[in-house]
Amino acid sequence: MMDWERFYRRADYDRCAYIGGERMADLAGRLFDRVGTPDDFASVGCGPAVVPFRLAERYPDTEFFGFDLSETVVRDNNEKATVEGVENLQFAVGSLPDLDTDRQFDVVYCVATLYFVEEPRRAIESLYARVRDGGHLVLNYPNEASREQFDEEFEGRKRESFELVLSGANLISEDVVREVTGAETRNYWELVGAEDEEFADSATPCVVAEK
Ligand SMILES: C[S@@+](CC[C@H](N)C(=O)[O-])C[C@H]1O[C@@H](n2cnc3c(N)ncnc32)[C@H](O)[C@@H]1O
Repeated sequence: MMDWERFYRRADYDRCAYIGGERMADLAGRLFDRVGTPDDFASVGCGPAVVPFRLAERYPDTEFFGFDLSETVVRDNNEKATVEGVENLQFAVGSLPDLDTDRQFDVVYCVATLYFVEEPRRAIESLYARVRDGGHLVLNYPNEASREQFDEEFEGRKRESFELVLSGANLISEDVVREVTGAETRNYWELVGAEDEEFADSATPCVVAEK
């Protein structure tokens, strides 16, 4: 299994957005155009938090939060926010499937993370519980198409990192998201006009559930 803490302890990790790159911040901005700019936004499994850093600059009246299981990336992100004087962005350790915060947010955003989580249903429950009424969960998850694609494309260490997906242990479908949240879901890529992007294929499903 992927050891993220060890990965981030190597001081030279890339500050990248793992799916969709830096464009993901523009796409989140399009979501805000459609559903309203949130008062607060939480990225869960935020990693180096490319999207929250970009958004915090663009939306100074929104409070941004990032949660990740890695203490190292949380500390690095908090230091970066302090050095850059970003006042509306903070990070804390938080680990799915349970998320140790009582706070709710207008948008909870979980992208490129469920691939590494053993109990996706419990994780979705916990993410959705953190969405304020009227707010939105943006959720990217592994499905059968992800497993097939990864099986064809990934080799060596990468196969170990994606062991849960490759073994089929944590695959879900849009129906599971509907069932667990009790909400209708919409395709996020379509909602933000990114359905033709290479990264937005059937192996990288991403949905929005309103609360
Ligand atoms: C591939 S990165 C994605 C980072 C970011 N969301 C993005 O899209 O660029 C996956 C992140 O999920 C975090 N992660 C993995 N398992 C997690 C869990 N159970 N709870 C919270 N974060 C987790 C890892 O530490 C890592 O930073």
